Amino acid sequence: MKARLQHFAGALALALGAAGASHAATLTVSCGSNAADLKFCAGYAEDWGKAHGYTIKVYTPPASSTDNLALLRQQLAAKSGDVDVLMIDVVWPGVLKDHLLDLKKYSKGAEAQHFPAIVANNTVDGKLLAMPWFTDAGLLFYRKDLLEKYKLTPPQTWDELEADAKKVMAGERAAGVADFQGFVFQAKAYEGLTCDALEWVNSFGGGDIVDKSGAITIDNAKAAKALDTAASWIGNIAPEGVLNYGEEDARGVFQNGKALFMRNWPYAWSLAQAPDSPIKDKVGVAPLPMGVGGRHAATLGGWQLAVNKYSKHPEAAAELVMYMTSAEIQKKRAIGGSYNPTIMALYKDPDIIKANPFMGQLLDVFTGAVARPATATGLKYPEVSRAFWDAAHSVLEKKSSGAEAVKKLAGTLKQVKRQAW
Ligand code: GLC
Repeated sequence: MKARLQHFAGALALALGAAGASHAATLTVSCGSNAADLKFCAGYAEDWGKAHGYTIKVYTPPASSTDNLALLRQQLAAKSGDVDVLMIDVVWPGVLKDHLLDLKKYSKGAEAQHFPAIVANNTVDGKLLAMPWFTDAGLLFYRKDLLEKYKLTPPQTWDELEADAKKVMAGERAAGVADFQGFVFQAKAYEGLTCDALEWVNSFGGGDIVDKSGAITIDNAKAAKALDTAASWIGNIAPEGVLNYGEEDARGVFQNGKALFMRNWPYAWSLAQAPDSPIKDKVGVAPLPMGVGGRHAATLGGWQLAVNKYSKHPEAAAELVMYMTSAEIQKKRAIGGSYNPTIMALYKDPDIIKANPFMGQLLDVFTGAVARPATATGLKYPEVSRAFWDAAHSVLEKKSSGAEAVKKLAGTLKQVKRQAW
């Protein structure tokens, strides 16, 4: 695919040269950390390039948000303008603030159409550092056909999820699917585990690690209980292998028909529904279960498009960002790739809701998602998140109890905080 794109870009450059186009410039766009995203990002960027006389080159960043950020920080520290348009995670504006262009001049107020909380998230020191592109929230994907077969309904609590998983695993394994799993999720030591573990903690009423005022709240019994509960799933309803799963690993197992439940982001819907998917039309989507005495909790995720301050073509890059984040392209990406729009009005669009019924049914999950403490911790967020996922991972590996882990984590976070975040 990449080779084909490069080939295409080369051919386009030649064609433009021959036509004597006024700009023979190349814009490099970062997108495509999975196959669907590559298709839906690169294709539309190329349409814009053709219309405006730019050659579009696609840069595919690492699939893990953690590896992606590490590489990007190196490139930006070296003031590299190689990638003009940057795809940035919802938790990065505070980390990258010195390296991104203020888009206010180019947006002409278009940001008012998007969810205000995301626009606020992307605005640092009064500068609009990125345009919202798609939003994410953690969801429970389940096998509709199997819940029906075993006369079950989507679980409301984690205890119900565990009981249902045990029942269906026993039945399916006895019927010959030896490696059938109950529940797959993201438990590798990376940003994805921060998202999953925050959902567990918050669903038990254990808060959000560091609250909005910057206070460290993680050392509490509910958070400890949530982590212990998740640890009890491993080797029980979840394979030991989840300790090394990212989003695509979990999706691989689920989409192959080898798991009853999966925690994942909306993008997994369009892939599960693809014509060649073994589970097409057998999947349902529900809010993630509640903890004991808690609530349904979903972590807020999502991606933005920003312009690299060191880009040699800042104006063109900003125009491309405005095009890519427009209602027209968000609608196409929602229908084709199940990327949740950030433009509020699109949630009333019948074509989008038809392709993705969960976007209408679970609107509350998206608007009520729990943010990771990125705004409160600013430049320190990557360290805070790493300390949190390390603590969660140690509990999942059964190297420490939930109570020990959250106590130690609070100590580490105090060190990271010192005077202030
Ligand atoms: C998704 C989310 C992003 C999150 C990442 C973690 O891409 O949109 O916000 O950081 O998953 O793996």
